[in-house]
Amino acid sequence: MDWTTQHGDNTDMDQKISLFDDWTILNFDSLESTNDYLKQNDAPKIDKLVVDTKIQTKGRGRRGRTWISQEGDDLTFSLLMNLGELPNDHWSLSSLVAGLALSDFLNSQNITHHIKWPNDIEAEGRKLCGILCETTKKDDKFFVIIGIGMNVNSQAKLYQTIEPGAISLAEINTKQWNTENILHGFLEYFDARWQELHHQGPVAICKTISNRLLGKGKQIEWQLSPESPAKLITLDGISESGLLLAHDENESFEIQSGEITWRHLF
Ligand code: BTN
Repeated sequence: MDWTTQHGDNTDMDQKISLFDDWTILNFDSLESTNDYLKQNDAPKIDKLVVDTKIQTKGRGRRGRTWISQEGDDLTFSLLMNLGELPNDHWSLSSLVAGLALSDFLNSQNITHHIKWPNDIEAEGRKLCGILCETTKKDDKFFVIIGIGMNVNSQAKLYQTIEPGAISLAEINTKQWNTENILHGFLEYFDARWQELHHQGPVAICKTISNRLLGKGKQIEWQLSPESPAKLITLDGISESGLLLAHDENESFEIQSGEITWRHLF
């Protein structure tokens, strides 16, 4: 496999390869986007590959947003996982499993936080981590690319454009964090949750996520789209297929990813 192939417009392809447990980690100085790197046709496609970079020049968030980070201070990386042994109807749980593993890691560091469905981690009402999941295919094998951005040592004021405002680990616990240790710690938790999803299915995982869910049992304002009228709903948790469960005064219902905007009322 050629690990040194040029990809797109990436200007700095200096990279190191390291191993951690059975993960292969490609460390770059600079990439446009770790997700985009893995989506390129000629990018390596092996199970449990991690692409990590000190800085992204075209980092992407969900819904076409930009993901900004501070060079060397924050974590921007993507996992490539083979979806082969996972039933198709569990594929969409990949991002929830990643969020839960981030949450496991943060718990291990005594960082108070919540999982904000579907993909974010919030602390002190501000965004600490974002996740962008995409699928890719190579030789009839399907993979999920799980892109993760975590604000680690940077100053949140750099990200004032992000809603609902950003926060970094260093702003919660004022110490200098080692980004490599965080990555390794996260990978261990992710491995355990990924195995749990494969061997025990989604029930316990979704229940644990429900217990850590931002706004669980609280009333929030929900809009189907920015143009739709706002509605008051109460969050109940997430279903076994990863959908948000909620109720209003008339009925219980499920909310699918991409359908909601939030305005906190608590
Ligand atoms: C979001 O909250 O909207 C998702 C943000 C995801 C950002 C990460 S950083 C690593 C990976 N590469 C990207 O271009 N985006 C994801």
